Amino acid sequence: MSSPVDVIVVGAGNRGENYSGYAVIFPDRMRVMGIADPRDFARKKLQARHKVSDENTFNDWRCIAEREKFADAVLICTPDRLHKDPAVALAKKGYHVLLEKPMAVTEEDCTEIVEACIQSGVMLTVCHVLRYDLIIHRIKGLIDSGVIGDVFHIQHLEPVGFYHFAHSFVRGNWRNEAESSFALLAKSCHDLDLIHHWAGGRRCIKVSSFGSLSYFTKENKPANAADRCLDCRVEGDCAYSAKKIYLDQVKRGGVGWPVSVICSNSVPDIESVTEALRTGPYGRCVYECDNDVCSNQVVNLEFEGGLTAAFTMVAFTEEICLRKTSIHGSKGELSYNGSEIKVFDFLTRKTTKYTADMRVPGNFGTGGHSSADYHLIDSFIAAVKHKDPSRIRSGPKETLASHKLVFAAERSRLENRVVYCGDSCDGESQ
Ligand SMILES: NC(=O)c1ccc[n+]([C@@H]2O[C@H](COP(=O)([O-])OP(=O)(O)OC[C@H]3O[C@@H](n4cnc5c(N)ncnc54)[C@H](O)[C@@H]3O)[C@@H](O)[C@H]2O)c1
Repeated sequence: MSSPVDVIVVGAGNRGENYSGYAVIFPDRMRVMGIADPRDFARKKLQARHKVSDENTFNDWRCIAEREKFADAVLICTPDRLHKDPAVALAKKGYHVLLEKPMAVTEEDCTEIVEACIQSGVMLTVCHVLRYDLIIHRIKGLIDSGVIGDVFHIQHLEPVGFYHFAHSFVRGNWRNEAESSFALLAKSCHDLDLIHHWAGGRRCIKVSSFGSLSYFTKENKPANAADRCLDCRVEGDCAYSAKKIYLDQVKRGGVGWPVSVICSNSVPDIESVTEALRTGPYGRCVYECDNDVCSNQVVNLEFEGGLTAAFTMVAFTEEICLRKTSIHGSKGELSYNGSEIKVFDFLTRKTTKYTADMRVPGNFGTGGHSSADYHLIDSFIAAVKHKDPSRIRSGPKETLASHKLVFAAERSRLENRVVYCGDSCDGESQ
């Protein structure tokens, strides 16, 4: 039996725990050799799960950079603003890098990561998980097969989900740009990456974007509402009540996301969730938080050859992150509703449907995109094992190019103007 790929988990939170679960299902393919996380609860939980020695368990990623290289790869799952430094330092030490998205929070830092990986000769996978979703992967195959002819328009919607948005982008880790990143980068770098991918190498010429935060603000706080949902007399009429989102879930026995996230130092139960809502960020009134990221944003893009694309990210939806897409070509229209693809052929006027098998081995993952997460980590580990970067769908150059579109779109929104893109949307030609 060949030896597994040895990895170090940097950031043992939600995503680090998720990817490292691959080693439990396939111990012959991946072994967790080290862990770094300042949170005792998270670090010790993964340490016990993977039987990692004390000498390979750290409070901070810097301790790994100071040691001799002792694994093949690192899984960097730290918060958004803590991606660049470990990615650059550990790439330079010769580790292959799996890096959570967004790559980093500035264009310069993204470029530095890519350069460090290329110069060090290590592979980089950015966790654009949608690229590894088997049904979304079929969309590109269908475009390339020519069934819809030449593509002229892409329409893509990301419905974030009303309580998901309240959890992550009003009360939670991605609520405030200075602490994490702007919403388009944090939430929708996946989506602009897909649009860029479907555009198939055509250069983006110009980008415009509008968006704002106008609802989850102090001005919209109802009369008589308290600062915390546990103390609120009008909470019963509020769709975003933390009691409804978290306490009701744990009372029904649900301990997965988002409840698992709010009890960061203990196992979720009624007592720990109540305490988290009483004292922590997730118990705050959604109209009384320090949030500043957009709740809805649109992006328009024009690519070479007359291809246009329109993207929408919106908080106020029933669906959670189940993207909806339609792609319009000269011979037909492709539509995707989050679970099935339909292709309507203009000549025959017939519709063909496509699905994919989304099952994954074992109990891998807990989130809505566990199937895509599985294929992502599986591809990365196989790429490292076989020294074959072609197995990685979200490698350095294409990911950097699509991140540049995100920065260009945000520049357009902030500066209230169309941004004209240079060779790879990294500069402005006029
Ligand atoms: N690909 C996706 O679909 C997807 C989904 C959710 C989140 N993310 C991204 O994944 C990243 C992690 O998100 P998460 O939800 O797991 O967050 P999390 O807060 O659950 O985990 C982050 C962990 O990093 C640890 N950390 C902080 N400083 C550290 C340091 N110096 N050294 C080592 N570890 C350190 C924290 O203690 C925490 O446990 C973020 O960048 C997020 O945007 C990606």
